[in-house]
Amino acid sequence: MRQDAPVHWSQQLESWVLTSYQDVCAALRDPRLSVVEEIKRIETLPASDQLALAPLRRTFTAWGDRGDPERHALFLKLLKRHFTPQHVEAQRPRIQEILDRLLDAAVRRGEIDVAHDIAHPLAMTVVAGMTGLPTEAVDLYLRCSNHISQLLEMGDRDQLFLCQQGMLELSGFLMPVVARRRRERGADLLGIFMEADPDGVQFSDEHIVAQCIMFLVVGYHTTANQLCNGLQILFDHAEERARLTSDPTLLPNAFDEMMRYHGAVASVRRMAMVDLTIRNQQIRAGETLVLALAAANRDPSAFPAPDRFDITREEAHRQVGFTIGPYSCMGQALARLEAQVFFRTLLDRFPRLRPRDATPDWMSFRPLGRELRTLRVLFD
Ligand code: HEM
Repeated sequence: MRQDAPVHWSQQLESWVLTSYQDVCAALRDPRLSVVEEIKRIETLPASDQLALAPLRRTFTAWGDRGDPERHALFLKLLKRHFTPQHVEAQRPRIQEILDRLLDAAVRRGEIDVAHDIAHPLAMTVVAGMTGLPTEAVDLYLRCSNHISQLLEMGDRDQLFLCQQGMLELSGFLMPVVARRRRERGADLLGIFMEADPDGVQFSDEHIVAQCIMFLVVGYHTTANQLCNGLQILFDHAEERARLTSDPTLLPNAFDEMMRYHGAVASVRRMAMVDLTIRNQQIRAGETLVLALAAANRDPSAFPAPDRFDITREEAHRQVGFTIGPYSCMGQALARLEAQVFFRTLLDRFPRLRPRDATPDWMSFRPLGRELRTLRVLFD
């Protein structure tokens, strides 16, 4: 497709699909393309359903103020105060402690499913702690967050109701937490949200809860999947794994290469706000585009021999798994740190770690993507 139809209309996705590195990067930076309000799908349902799903719509629309470019930019400015390199790096001992605790418990049980026992609870505990939420409720966050992410998977009517159920349960738990934290502010995201924004506007409790839910969804699922994808790639490439084990300074580049080779987010969607042309193809205002990050990351014009996994690849840092441009991932520094702690610890502590199942347990997720449902391993 990248070669023969780089701007392709997919009936199944009801979108234009862009697959070349150049086009995907240009689209990510193009101010004429906006993020897609997934929630707009509610408008296609009967009026009674729309009414019943109003709480879901309200919460989702508040996420990062993404619907309003100006407010979104202010939101990003606010967050940048928190996601400084120093602040993120300060999380290292905490991440290590959480990971060690999870691994010790799994070793005591005698079996490890890296996805279920390690990557998912690790990613969730880290993001909940960084947001300033009580980490004792991680099981609740995991359950609800997994329901909510159904929505991101272009869910049907039933999934939207399931998603709302998760959202309401989480809101019910988080509202009193936020009210309590108004009285005891901390140096975390909640503390930042409670300060007035640069316009002097105060976020309401409901608005802050919506941001917390956003972090519990977007900061967790992606990270957990990326850790599992990366480990599976190392299982499949013994030589690269040996190089990484003997020289952990290669980890930052190796992580970019893992993201390039198999990123957790295979595609993002955008909507054309005006009529535009890409490679002589007319795209009409209101039409949606699927930007295939996975295809861009394997484009031979940007990454020579793209199907080779090479942890010292020079161009690895150009991968677009976090995207680029105004909506790119806000938490990538944290994700990178989690990956460093995770891979270093696993490679050091379990030199003979190996998959238990002959075939990886992939399931499809989002347009064009897949994730590991389980990742059972053997260790000595
Ligand atoms: C390896 C792990 C991760 C991957 C692959 C990933 C990937 C992405 C992608 C592809 C986007 C969408 C960008 C777009 O539409 O252009 C995104 C957005 C976002 N990510 Fe991440 N992410 C990861 C980890 C995290 C973490 C740990 C956090 C927070 C602690 C986080 C917070 C966010 C937020 C808040 C947004 C929304 C940005 C916005 O609205 O402007 N992500 N991420």
